[in-house]
Amino acid sequence: MPTNMTSFARTLTLETNNDSYASGDNGNVEFGRLMDLKPRQIETQLSLDERSINDIISSGLSSPRPPRQLETAKSSECLEALLSPSIRSSAGTPREYHAFEPHPMIADAWERLRLSMVFYRSRPVGTIAALDPEEDSLNYNQVFVRDFVPSALAFLMNGEPEIVKNFLLRTLQLQSVEKRIDCFTLGEGVMPASFKVLHDPVRKTDTMIADFGESAIGRVAPVDSGFWWIILLRAYTKSTGDYTLADMPDCQRGMRLILYLCLADGFDTFPTLLCADGCCMVDRRMGIYGYPIEIQSLFFMALRSAKSLIKADGDGKEFLEKIDKRLHALSYHMREYFWLDHQQLNNIYRFKTEEYSHTAVNKFNVIPDSIPDWIFDFLPLKGGFFIGNVSPARMDFRWFAIGNFMAILGSLATADQASAIMDLLEARWPELVGDMPLKVSYPAMEGHEWRIITGCDPKNTRWSYHNAGSWPVILWMLTAACIKAGRPQIARRAIEQVETRLSADGWPEYYDGKLGRYVGKQARKFQTWSIAGYLVAKMMLEDPSHLGMIGLEEDKKIQKPSLTRSASWTA
Ligand code: GLC
Repeated sequence: MPTNMTSFARTLTLETNNDSYASGDNGNVEFGRLMDLKPRQIETQLSLDERSINDIISSGLSSPRPPRQLETAKSSECLEALLSPSIRSSAGTPREYHAFEPHPMIADAWERLRLSMVFYRSRPVGTIAALDPEEDSLNYNQVFVRDFVPSALAFLMNGEPEIVKNFLLRTLQLQSVEKRIDCFTLGEGVMPASFKVLHDPVRKTDTMIADFGESAIGRVAPVDSGFWWIILLRAYTKSTGDYTLADMPDCQRGMRLILYLCLADGFDTFPTLLCADGCCMVDRRMGIYGYPIEIQSLFFMALRSAKSLIKADGDGKEFLEKIDKRLHALSYHMREYFWLDHQQLNNIYRFKTEEYSHTAVNKFNVIPDSIPDWIFDFLPLKGGFFIGNVSPARMDFRWFAIGNFMAILGSLATADQASAIMDLLEARWPELVGDMPLKVSYPAMEGHEWRIITGCDPKNTRWSYHNAGSWPVILWMLTAACIKAGRPQIARRAIEQVETRLSADGWPEYYDGKLGRYVGKQARKFQTWSIAGYLVAKMMLEDPSHLGMIGLEEDKKIQKPSLTRSASWTA
C-alpha cells in the first residue's frame, strides 16, 4: 500500500438518519440508520462511526423467516431435486462433517481456513488471501472479494452464515464511500477489489481500508467484485432462508447501483459488457480486454441472482424489466457467437468475409486466417465451449475455465452446451486438468505473442500463473458445474488428483507447467482460496443439495437461439 493514501486508502464515516425499516414477517427491525448511510469523504483516514453497522450486525437479522421462492422459472427436474432440500436454517450451528470417510486433508483445511479469518471490531468479516509464513505478504494480506467467495460458501455449507453476513454488510459500506483515483471519481456502484483491516493495539481501534483496484497491480478495474457480491447475497439468502438481509433497502440499493453501471445506455452494439484488461480473476494484462467470457458469465449470473432478490416496488418493476431484456439479449449473443464446437469451427473456417449486410452469416467479419492452428487439433468431434472473447473481426479462441463453469452454474449454457463442456474436459483432460487441477486458461501464449499481449510480464510466462497456469481454487467451480451437468464423476477424478498433493505441497496458489506438475514459480503457500475451494468441492460432492446456493436453474423463458441466417436482426 503506497504511503500517499489521499485518494484511496480510506475508511468511511457514516451519516445516519432516523428512518426505520420494517423487515417483513419477523417484525420491525431498525435498519434505517444503516440504509440511509450517506458517504462523506474526509481527509486521508476517516474514522468509522460503527454504531449503526454494529447494530445491524448484532440485530435480529439472523432469525430466518420462511423462505420464499427464489427462482422465477420452473426448474429442470434434475436440478429441482437438488435444489429443494438446500434451504437451510442452521445458522450458528456448525455441522459435523462425517458422511463418508473424511480425507485427512479436510481437518487441515478447516484449521487453516479458520486461521485465515479476519476480524473487525471482534467480528469475523472475511478471510485473508494467503497466510504464507515465508513470503512477503505484498497485497496478499487483504480480503479479496473474489477470493472470499469459496470461503463464504464453505462457511455457509457448514451452517456458519455470520461471517458471510458481516462481509456482505461491510463491503456494502465500502461501496458507499466516495471512491477517487487521482482526480477521477469512480462510479457509485463499484465494489472494492479487496480490503484490509488495520488493528491499532495502542488506541484499540480497527480501521478498514478498501482498494478499488488503484493500488493493486497497476490500476485494474474490479468489475467482477460487484457481480460476486450479488451472487453471494443470493447464496446467503438461499442457504439461510433469511430474506431480511437482501430485503434491506441498503442491499436493494447496493444491487441496483452495481447493475446500473452495466445496464446504462452507451455506445454498445452488443449486450455483452465491455471491459478493460485485468478486470476479473485474471487481474493482469492478458489480452482479455473487450468482452471476456468470465465477466459475461458473471454478469449473466448476477443479473439472474438480482432478479430473484430485487423487490418490485418503486422503480423496481422497471428495473426488473430492464434485467429481463438484457438477460434475453445476452443469452442469445453468448450462445450464438461465443459457442464453439466442431461444426461451428468448420463454419468459421469457411466464412466469407466482407459480407456487410443484414443477412451476413459472418456477422463480426472474422477473417478465417486469424483462426490459430492449435484450435483445429484441440477441438474434439464431441464437445464444445464458450471461447474467450468475441468482438469485431476478433475471436479469442482460448479456453477460460471460470467463464465456462460459471456459464454452466448460471444456466447461461444450455443443458446441451453444459454436456458438451463436460465432453471437452474428458477428451482434453491432460491439457485442461493435467496433474493438478485446473488450468485457468489454455493454451499458453509464448514468444512474440506473449511479449506483445502481456507486455513482457515475467509472472505470466508460458504455462505459469494466469498464462495457462493451474489453479486449485477452480476445483469448486468444476465440481459444482459437474454436479449441475449430471457428471459428478468428472469432479471426483479431479478431487482425487488434488488429494495426492495439495496439502503436502502447502496449499499453493497455483502450479506451473503443461501438466501443472510444478508448484508455481511465485505461488504463495497456504493460499486461502485453494483451501476453501477444496472444502467446498468436497462438501458439494458429499451433499449435492448445496448446489442450490450457487446454481441457477435454466430459465425456460430465455429463448434459445434459432440458428438461421440473420437471426439476430430484428429491425
Ligand atoms: C492474484 C489473482 C487474483 C486474486 C489475488 C489474491 O492477483 O490473480 O485473482 O484475487 O491474487 O489471491
